[in-house]
Amino acid sequence: MSRKLLVTGGAGFIGSNFVHHWCKTYPDDRVVVLDALTYAGNRGNLASLEGKENFRFVRGDICDRTLVDKLLQTENIDIIAHFAAESHVDRSILGPGAFVQTNVVGTFTLLEAFRQHWQTNNQPLNYRFLHVSTDEVYGSLAPNDPAFCETTPYAPNSPYSASKAGSDHLVRAYYHTYGLPAIITNCSNNYGSYQFPEKLIPLMCINILMGKPLPIYGDGKNVRDWLYVNDHCSAIEVVIQRGTPGETYNIGGNNEVENINLVQMLCQLMDELALDLPVRPSQNLITFVKDRLGHDRRYAINSNKLQTQLGWTPSVTVEEGLRLTVEWYLTHRDWWEPLLSEEYQAYYRKNYLQSAS
Ligand code: NAD
Ligand code: DAU
Repeated sequence: MSRKLLVTGGAGFIGSNFVHHWCKTYPDDRVVVLDALTYAGNRGNLASLEGKENFRFVRGDICDRTLVDKLLQTENIDIIAHFAAESHVDRSILGPGAFVQTNVVGTFTLLEAFRQHWQTNNQPLNYRFLHVSTDEVYGSLAPNDPAFCETTPYAPNSPYSASKAGSDHLVRAYYHTYGLPAIITNCSNNYGSYQFPEKLIPLMCINILMGKPLPIYGDGKNVRDWLYVNDHCSAIEVVIQRGTPGETYNIGGNNEVENINLVQMLCQLMDELALDLPVRPSQNLITFVKDRLGHDRRYAINSNKLQTQLGWTPSVTVEEGLRLTVEWYLTHRDWWEPLLSEEYQAYYRKNYLQSAS
């Protein structure tokens, strides 16, 4: 039987990759995207789906209860895949208010609307609320600590991760209190196509292509666990299909890399694949800058539960995924050049002025 999905934040980085993945895998399902098109949203990410019978794009805010109610009802939604969020840690340090509004109030609004919709329809067994969250809610690891697992206590350290933790707690409470069939996924750092160039990997790729300094915070030895975005999408698919309501699943690539090593890998790939670089070797552009406030030292995810219980495995290594990503940014100048807008330049100056060493 075909399903009706509401994908919030479907014009963003992971959301748009997920929408493409789902529409390709389940062409008979209907996908409705709800996205406010903030600076991070880009309707062009979904251009190849526009006009298709089973696809609809709605520009709107997840905090708009009237709109959400209307969409759930008129589209007869049975699954919400909730990606919409303010997602960048540096922006949360500069201005936390939007993070509380979208990540906490927005998630609450969706939960309330979905609860009413689910109860009005006599609590169908196939309904799901899939809440996409982050490993950052678990805080920071010391070098020899074991990786985060689903029972690791929450200890968020940035306004971003605190707002995501708040939304996770609400989702959990809606399952325990009302029995709402909600599932949470906590994922590590994603990379791949359509990622906005404020995040480490696209920012470094684009700065290399433009011959601009590559700003590395602190000593560059912070560790992140990198996951190719297509693998995140396949994990969410598996959780929607086979996950148990009320459960949490960690998603990670088992690819811990220090930032400085990751940037060096990107420089090598660019030196190999890009024909005309303004500065070569591009690692001459590496510049250490003042550290991010409250910068978490290390993240690592243990995704054994997802792998053993639901049978998911990542499909690419970090070397393969980075190569695909560098190739994508090299061949999609038309996608990223317009993003380097006045707003972006203003954000960049504000963030990196404060970071100048
Ligand atoms: P993104 O910033 O690229 O996209 C967010 C999308 O949400 C944008 O399209 C934006 O327009 C939309 N949006 C923002 N506020 C909205 C609102 N009030 N109403 C409707 N739409 C709104 O984010 P992303 O990197 O794709 O992350 C998606 C989700 O995955 C987030 O919940 C994030 O916390 C989580 N996550 C991200 C990563 C990562 O590495 N990027 C890792 C783990 C979890
Ligand atoms: O762990 C999952 C999280 O990963 C997601 O929940 C967030 O939405 C996503 O933004 C990401 O958060 P990070 O803060 O880890 O990602 P970011 O790309 O901003 O930074 C990765 C690392 O690189 C981090 O240690 C900070 C560092 N960094 C980042 C930038 C933008 C730099 O050294 N220089 C930079 O210019």
